[in-house]
Amino acid sequence: MAAVGSGARAGHENWSSRSAFILAAVGSAVGLGNMWRFPAEAGENGGGAFVLFYIFCVLLIGLPVLLSEVLIGRHGQANAPESVRKVARDSNAPEGWSVLASIGVFAAFLILSFYCVVGGWVVYYIGVFASDLFQTGLAGGAFEGRNPDDIKALMPGLFGDGSLMVALNLGFLAVTMFFVARGVSSGIEWVAVYLMPLFFIIFLAITIYGAFTGNFGDAVAYLFTFDFSKLTGEVMLAAVGQAFFSLSLGVAGMMTYGAYANRDTNLGETSGIIAGADTMVALLAGLAIFPIVFAAGLATNAGPGLMFESLPLAFQQMPFGSLIGLAFFVMVFFAALTSSVSLLEAPTAWTFEKFKIARPVATIIVGAGAAVLGALSALSFNDLAEFYPLGFIPLFAETNFFDTLDGLTAKLFMPIGAILTCIFVGWIADARLIDNENGLDGALHKLWRVLVRFVCPIVLAVILFVGLTS
Ligand code: TRP
Repeated sequence: MAAVGSGARAGHENWSSRSAFILAAVGSAVGLGNMWRFPAEAGENGGGAFVLFYIFCVLLIGLPVLLSEVLIGRHGQANAPESVRKVARDSNAPEGWSVLASIGVFAAFLILSFYCVVGGWVVYYIGVFASDLFQTGLAGGAFEGRNPDDIKALMPGLFGDGSLMVALNLGFLAVTMFFVARGVSSGIEWVAVYLMPLFFIIFLAITIYGAFTGNFGDAVAYLFTFDFSKLTGEVMLAAVGQAFFSLSLGVAGMMTYGAYANRDTNLGETSGIIAGADTMVALLAGLAIFPIVFAAGLATNAGPGLMFESLPLAFQQMPFGSLIGLAFFVMVFFAALTSSVSLLEAPTAWTFEKFKIARPVATIIVGAGAAVLGALSALSFNDLAEFYPLGFIPLFAETNFFDTLDGLTAKLFMPIGAILTCIFVGWIADARLIDNENGLDGALHKLWRVLVRFVCPIVLAVILFVGLTS
């Protein structure tokens, strides 16, 4: 008990090395956001215009905000609201700024709840491919002799089964809770250090395979042709939201991980590595998925089902398809787990430090809450499909529980959290304190300050306004 019993500082853990921090942070960033949400959002928002604006957002807004967040965490060495409070205190600024991180912790909890629902779908497809491999053996494509329509029916079949969806959601959440309960070095770091390298190996193998066998042309044209007329306010807001979601920003996740970083870690450099790896994986995932979408004649705007509907069709055509399909979904599972762990860690760290309870107890409390909300999200594809919790707001008209939580967090909580973070780091916090932490110098440092003080908050405010009112 002593380790966690005496508040924020006494039980505070650290990453065991700089590379452990990088792997954990990349693990947090790279996840379903890249493999599942990015292609779905790109498809729903018209392709190229979305993708290029997304890259613009990552570089100009995501990266500076990412550095701001890890910096706050590292200075504070505590859960996110407490870290903001410490930076404020050390800058003689009002401690009330910590509310920006309190909102974030709550938003991370909301994201966790529906993230584990999608994690459950991944588990389902692992089961589908594992049993297929078992039945048909190694050679040949997946689902041998089965009609493509049967394969297309897998996803609607799963969506229609409320109790299965809830069970899968709980299973994924339970695995996440197991690792968070074990703590920073033996739980969170363990998943990152073992699973992230495995993820990258399998991911590269599959993308290279796809590059040689798939038809890249249509996908490249779709994803990278910039059509200015398609860049509406709504598309821009979706792109910013996706950039934040993918980089785990705006909701205290990266502050929480920064708090476990040592003084000698160069945060500027680390942020660059995280953003670079994350963006590369998202673009490659798009290039892996869209060739199949076009080849199979699927709708690009299929939404959340896109990855799950398109890829199994491709695996049917491939030699060793069931094995590759299984490897693919196991890989997505690893990536999702290293992200869900970070989503659970932010509210859990706050809970056990704030209420001075043991980490496993806090994990169970937060997990139980996420289980309830998650069940509502899982059921919004079937029994609760007609339930539109915020239907009275135009942006969320005819939006089910799952999509409401997703939209609310990405399009509202994250941009607002990021605006407040920029104002806090750029204008409120003591400039010397900030400069000591960021690991940048020269022109890069000047650029970062301009971005954080002016560009990010203004651009974000404009996009938020245009996106919400158009
Ligand atoms: N970035 C993760 C992904 O792309 C999701 C995620 C993990 C996240 N932690 C977060 C999103 C914190 C927002 C905040 O899958």
